[in-house]
Amino acid sequence: MQVKVIKFDDLGQGISKINNKVCFIEKALPEEELEIEVTKNSKDYSKGIIKNILKENKERIVPICKYYKECGGCNFLHTTLDLESKFKINKCINYFNINPTFIKTIDYNYRNKVVLHVKDGNLGYYKERTHDLIKIDYCYLLSNNLNLVIELFNKYKDSNFNGEILIRDNSNEIIVSIEGEYKYLDKLINNNLITNLIYNSKVLKGKDYFIEVINDYKFKVHYKSFFQVNRIGLEKIEMILSNFLKDKKLNKVLDLYSGTSVLGIIMSKYAKEVISIEENKYASLDAKENLKFNKINNLEVINSKVEDYIENFLDIDLVLVDPARSGLDKKSINYLKKLKSKYLIYISCEMISLKRDLESLKEIYNIKNIYLVDMFPRTNKVETIMIMER
Ligand SMILES: C[S@@+](CC[C@H](N)C(=O)[O-])C[C@H]1O[C@@H](n2cnc3c(N)ncnc32)[C@H](O)[C@@H]1O
Repeated sequence: MQVKVIKFDDLGQGISKINNKVCFIEKALPEEELEIEVTKNSKDYSKGIIKNILKENKERIVPICKYYKECGGCNFLHTTLDLESKFKINKCINYFNINPTFIKTIDYNYRNKVVLHVKDGNLGYYKERTHDLIKIDYCYLLSNNLNLVIELFNKYKDSNFNGEILIRDNSNEIIVSIEGEYKYLDKLINNNLITNLIYNSKVLKGKDYFIEVINDYKFKVHYKSFFQVNRIGLEKIEMILSNFLKDKKLNKVLDLYSGTSVLGIIMSKYAKEVISIEENKYASLDAKENLKFNKINNLEVINSKVEDYIENFLDIDLVLVDPARSGLDKKSINYLKKLKSKYLIYISCEMISLKRDLESLKEIYNIKNIYLVDMFPRTNKVETIMIMER
């Protein structure tokens, strides 16, 4: 069947129409003319895959990665970064009716963290929505160090190893945490690349955390604590926050979903008092250490779920929320609307949940500015920093 692609959908797939019904076509680009095979046909929509490209979008490129067809980790390797950025900007304009400031990071090799599944000694990612392992020997999203560790595991392959490997790095340390039985531990212990090795929760080498330096700040990060996966992206967020806050006179600030209090510590320079709330106990403990590292004495760390604690606050000037992909819960949204802080900064890696939450928050807040920090290049995700004012 021949179709013409009209535009991108919200996930970066091509949309076309067949007999007035929407058809989603994997890896199709706007304006392309395609021969497709319809793989699903339901009452409201159909799905298709490309069989032949009859007219190609000039921004189509040959994917750099040999696993791209089957692995769902990236979504835009078949396009230029320019077209990918346009997709992200247009999605933001469609959702919020505001032209955002788009801030680039680097195209590839930016991720400082990965969790790999291991089956019979083969390590890789699960194919999207399945438990089928795609064995990998290199991933273009991961930092060079992370790829070197993958190379090491492939060199010392243990065919009886089934489990999971977490690898994280910063500028001078690499943490490897193994879950499962792996027989070549001595090879890892004796390898200088790996500074910190954890085996089934036991530290075998180095420590169970590393120290990350971001601009003028130093952060302790336990291997189970959240930390932004793209350090250049985090530096950009620091810049955006500092620029916004530098001329504000703030008494009390809340840093909700605070992780290791990276953003709370950045904000503490511009406020009399900051309170961070984080549910992960490792991240909260890191946050407390990070206060000492950075000589901060106006920040309090509370280890709790936001929804269980938020109602204790009154008279707050600014609230920053940086929730997980699922966004905010109803109770927290309702209390934020009662609290009516002058400013609300919403940081989100999932624009769809941000859009949903905004439907309610916009009764109190106007959007002043939106920044898109390209924290996850070559995927359909982007970090949205929305600055709102009461
Ligand atoms: C996207 S991360 C942001 C962390 C931090 N703001 C940063 O930039 O490093 C979200 C954090 O929220 C925490 N979290 C998730 N649900 C939570 C909840 N209901 N209450 C408190 N913290 C939560 C997670 O453990 C994670 O550390």
